[in-house]
Amino acid sequence: MANLAAYSLFTFSLVATMPLWAQSFNSESWVTRREAKYEKVTKLQFYFHDTLSGKNPSAVRVAQAIDTNKSPTLFGAIMMIDDPLTEGPDPKSKLVGRAQGLYGSACKEELGLIMALNFGFTDGMYNGSSISLLGKNSAMNPVREMPIIGGTGIFRLARGYALAQTHWIDFTTGDAIVGYNVTVVH
Ligand SMILES: *[C@@H]1O[C@H](CO)[C@@H](O)[C@H](O)[C@H]1NC(C)=O
Ligand SMILES: *[C@@H]1O[C@H](CO)[C@@H](O)[C@H](O)[C@H]1NC(C)=O
Repeated sequence: MANLAAYSLFTFSLVATMPLWAQSFNSESWVTRREAKYEKVTKLQFYFHDTLSGKNPSAVRVAQAIDTNKSPTLFGAIMMIDDPLTEGPDPKSKLVGRAQGLYGSACKEELGLIMALNFGFTDGMYNGSSISLLGKNSAMNPVREMPIIGGTGIFRLARGYALAQTHWIDFTTGDAIVGYNVTVVH
């Protein structure tokens, strides 16, 4: 808040000139780049609980190809999810938001998922803000990097990356708990 107040005072007094907080670079006629000092970097750490089994799954298969069940990677299967996001790996730890959206098997040779998810947060000052993840999840790699391509609320204009690491998985049911470390600039 204090920062925000300082920022508006500052821009007010410099209204006719280029603000001091930004530097412009015009190395090519068709590109203008502005580097501002007041961009925020936010790091988030939470756990994603994907439950396919039981009476109340948070991930359901909504579509597949004719040959999906013959494919070792279930190529063509698409899941719709509404997964809780918690502060810790324990499913009973504090709920901080939900991951809602789709992931589908997009690779024939490896377990590679295309993920299109909205992470909507509900905790504290982040309640109502969201970030969007879109990218490929090479699920068998220990750490997977995926792009964050936007956001709302506090995270308007967000971009960044997520690092996902499986914390626990049941290979029979597919149930998994995945740790997410997300870094966004906004
Ligand atoms: C988040 O905001 C909604 C709508 O304003 C409110 O109903 C809800 O109780 C809030 N949740 C938390 C955890 O504060
Ligand atoms: C996520 O962040 C935690 C805490 O900083 C760290 O221990 C962990 O190794 C990180 N995980 C990944 C995949 O970067």
